[in-house]
Amino acid sequence: MYRETLEKANALISDGDDFISGLSNLSALLKESFNFWWVGFYIVRDSKSSHGKSLFLGPFQGPVACQRIEYGKGVCGSAWKKNTLINVPNVHDFPGHIACSSFSNSEIVVPISTNGEVQVLLDIDSKNYAEFDEVDEKHLVDLAQIISHKLLK
Ligand code: SME
Repeated sequence: MYRETLEKANALISDGDDFISGLSNLSALLKESFNFWWVGFYIVRDSKSSHGKSLFLGPFQGPVACQRIEYGKGVCGSAWKKNTLINVPNVHDFPGHIACSSFSNSEIVVPISTNGEVQVLLDIDSKNYAEFDEVDEKHLVDLAQIISHKLLK
């Protein structure tokens, strides 16, 4: 399933495509392929927060979500701060988890970086507990690489 989805992702986006357009189609592709509860992107942008930057809601598919997340807050802000993938089998056990939808029970967040600096985070929520495993992790990191190479240069 991921092989097919990543092939489609590669076909959908080309080097230098507008990144909002590309991320919009990728969120639709992931939602259509896997029927996840929520799939979307948070974008690092300048803000008046103490950190100087915040995460702002980008293209997504699924229910209405938090529009802004601060550095180090929630799963997304933690993945940003640590610049590492975070796979949460039970969001209710994650200290500081930000509940955008009460139906979400597990979540995976994958940072997308250029030159080691996080620019965008891919966030996927599931109604199932422990939805994501090593297979998801591996392929979502591959997808993050595709996004970094094709859309963030
Ligand atoms: N649960 C996330 C917030 C974003 S929503 O899930 C779409 C978090 O704790 O960062």
